[in-house]
Amino acid sequence: MHLVSNPARPSRPAGDFIEFVERFDGFGAKTEVFEEDGLSYYVNEFWTSRQRQAGRIHEISYRACFKAQLPGFFIAGLSAAGDTVHDPFMGRGTTPIQAAVMGRRAVGVDINPLSVLLTRPRLAPVTPGAVEARLGEISQAGAAAAPDPLDGDLLEFYHPETLARIKGLREWFARREPADAIDDWIRMVALNRLTGHSPGFFSVYTMPPNQAVSARSQRRINARRGQTPPVRNVTAIIARKSRSLLGGGAHSASHRPDLRCAPAQHTPHLADASVDLVVTSPPFLDIVNYADDNWLRCWFAGIDPAAVPIAMHRSVEAWTAFVREVFGELARVVRPGGHVAFEVGEVRNAKVLLERAVRDAVEGLPFAIEGVVVNLQDFTKTSNCWGVSNNKKGVNTNRIVIMVRK
Ligand SMILES: C[S@@+](CC[C@H](N)C(=O)[O-])C[C@H]1O[C@@H](n2cnc3c(N)ncnc32)[C@H](O)[C@@H]1O
Repeated sequence: MHLVSNPARPSRPAGDFIEFVERFDGFGAKTEVFEEDGLSYYVNEFWTSRQRQAGRIHEISYRACFKAQLPGFFIAGLSAAGDTVHDPFMGRGTTPIQAAVMGRRAVGVDINPLSVLLTRPRLAPVTPGAVEARLGEISQAGAAAAPDPLDGDLLEFYHPETLARIKGLREWFARREPADAIDDWIRMVALNRLTGHSPGFFSVYTMPPNQAVSARSQRRINARRGQTPPVRNVTAIIARKSRSLLGGGAHSASHRPDLRCAPAQHTPHLADASVDLVVTSPPFLDIVNYADDNWLRCWFAGIDPAAVPIAMHRSVEAWTAFVREVFGELARVVRPGGHVAFEVGEVRNAKVLLERAVRDAVEGLPFAIEGVVVNLQDFTKTSNCWGVSNNKKGVNTNRIVIMVRK
């Protein structure tokens, strides 16, 4: 065990967390510990999706998001109340929101402009009552929906009356930029209700809005299912989802959050050594077609999807070089003794072990790897057959590289 030396803060024995992970038996199983290729692995069910602690405030859809229990576990073990927790790939904001829920200061960036729109409102204090009052005001305003070049496409998803409502909302937000906290909230909920498979969404049956299908595919889905878009009550849907997210009023307003649309590798707005903990999961090796997946959300939010430079790395080498650049920036913003929990997931059926690429990426940078924490989703089924080297199939894991800033 080594002690962190930062005279400005109470010393936090960095080794304690790994010891805690090693002794963990919270769900009745012992942690399996082994070394492979120079890395120490700690395997157990450290958190479970059955845990209720996450809270409804997280329940919005985003591609490749992690469950709130993941950042919750590392925030609890590697930071203290009032600490600053950063996510340079914040996505739907799982880390910043969980950080705020746990009394930490939330900061984060993402290259996707939708990310701030989805996260910021859930860190500001709003109430279901204020949301409902504003929805009433927006309906009263009844903005006339101007013709839109995408109308033909949009009518594959929406009844004309529903589309008029959605366009009214869209115009309301465009007129009132910058949004106040209540408009910001309503736009976030609307972004999440745009499309889906049930009457809780504005659209006829389709895919969720983070994987929106093209109008042409939707035409085929409509023909196959014999469906036409029904009228939906946009206001009631937003009010209902707001009440659900707010869980009856409890809210995770964060102290001075700082969320921005920016690349992970260039965050000059964050001061040197200002971050205590990073919990993040980078884009993986798969090729994501951002513009295709997000065309509807981007239309609604007035974003040009073709202008969003989402990182895509086909080879492990290119990915490693990208991650190295990000760690160059993290070396600047994370304070000595602070930690990074870097989730690399399972790629190509665990044939590619990205934790090894992370090790290569940080070589020569002021980070020491303390271990790789592997969370098994269903430990009972797999505890007898787990082995990183034998690549057992069907094991759903999160793999998190734990590093300390030297
Ligand atoms: C695996 S997702 C993270 C999901 C997040 N943990 C959550 O729970 O929603 C990776 C994120 O990286 C973002 N991204 C891709 N390239 C980026 C870059 N160069 N800088 C910052 N964010 C980037 C993507 O927009 C995406 O939101």
